[in-house]
Amino acid sequence: MSRVDAIMLWDSTIIAVATSKGGAGKTTSVCCLALYFASQGLKVGLLDCDPNGTLTRWHAKGGALSKLPIISEVNEKRIISSIGYLSTANDVVLVDCPGFNSQVMVYALGVANLVLVPVMTDEANLFEAIRTKMLADWASTATKRPIKVRAFLSRIKGSNLVSHSRSELERAGVQMLKASVADRIAFQEASYFGSSPLVDNPSSGAALDVIGLASEVAAILELDKPSRPHAPAIPILAS
Ligand SMILES: Nc1ncnc2c1ncn2[C@@H]1O[C@H](COP(=O)(O)OP(=O)(O)OP(=O)(O)O)[C@@H](O)[C@H]1O
Ligand SMILES: [Mg+2]
Repeated sequence: MSRVDAIMLWDSTIIAVATSKGGAGKTTSVCCLALYFASQGLKVGLLDCDPNGTLTRWHAKGGALSKLPIISEVNEKRIISSIGYLSTANDVVLVDCPGFNSQVMVYALGVANLVLVPVMTDEANLFEAIRTKMLADWASTATKRPIKVRAFLSRIKGSNLVSHSRSELERAGVQMLKASVADRIAFQEASYFGSSPLVDNPSSGAALDVIGLASEVAAILELDKPSRPHAPAIPILAS
C-alpha cells in the first residue's frame, strides 16, 4: 500500500516535454533545451522515462549532453522520486516523456511547472497534442497546482499547414509559443553525437531556432531572473 513517505521542497523548475504522438521532436527538444540552459550557467538534470531510451542513448555518445546528469527511469513507482532527486541538485530538470499515453507520462505532467508539447503540422500530431494538453489540465486539477502548458510547431516545412495548425490548436485552447522549429538536417546530425546545433554550429538557422525556443521558455518560467519561484512542496509516495 502506498503511503506518504516524505515531503520534499523542490527547488528546481521541471519541464516535461510531452506528446502522445511519437516522433514529434521531444527528445531533440530536451537535448537542445538542456544544452542551451547549461550554456546559460544553469544546472540541468535529465530524466528519461521513455522505455525506448533514446535520450539515454544520445547521452552515452560522449558529446556535450553526456556532461549533464541523467536518470533513466521507466517505472511509474519511481518516476516522481527520481525527478525529486534531480531537483535537489539542479536548477532545471528536463523530462523526456514516451511518445504514447502512459502512467509515467501522467506522473511527469503532474509534477511539471511547464509541459512543453512539440507538434508537427499533420492531423494526428494536432489530435495527440490536444489530448496531451487535456491530460496536463487534469493533472493540474488532481494535484491542485498550476501547470503551464505550451505547444510549439516542430519540424515545420513552410507550407500553409503552419498557420492552419496554429489556429486549429489555439481554437482547441492550446497556448502556442511564438517560436517554432524548422525541419533541418542539422538536428538529425546532432543526434548522432548527443549534441545540439547550438554547440555544433552556433550561427546556423537550427541554432537560431533553438535560441528562439529556449529563450521563450526561459521567459515563461522566469529562468532568466536570479530569484525564481520554487516549485510547491509535493508529497513523495513510496510503495
Ligand atoms: N527540427 C527537426 N528537423 C529535422 N529532423 C528532426 C527535427 N526534430 C527531430 N528530428 C528528427 O526526427 C526524429 C524524431 O525526433 P525525436 O526523437 O526528437 O522525436 P520524439 O518525439 O522524441 O520521438 P519518440 O516519440 O519516438 O520518442 C529523429 O530522427 C530526429 O533526429
Ligand atoms: Mg523521444
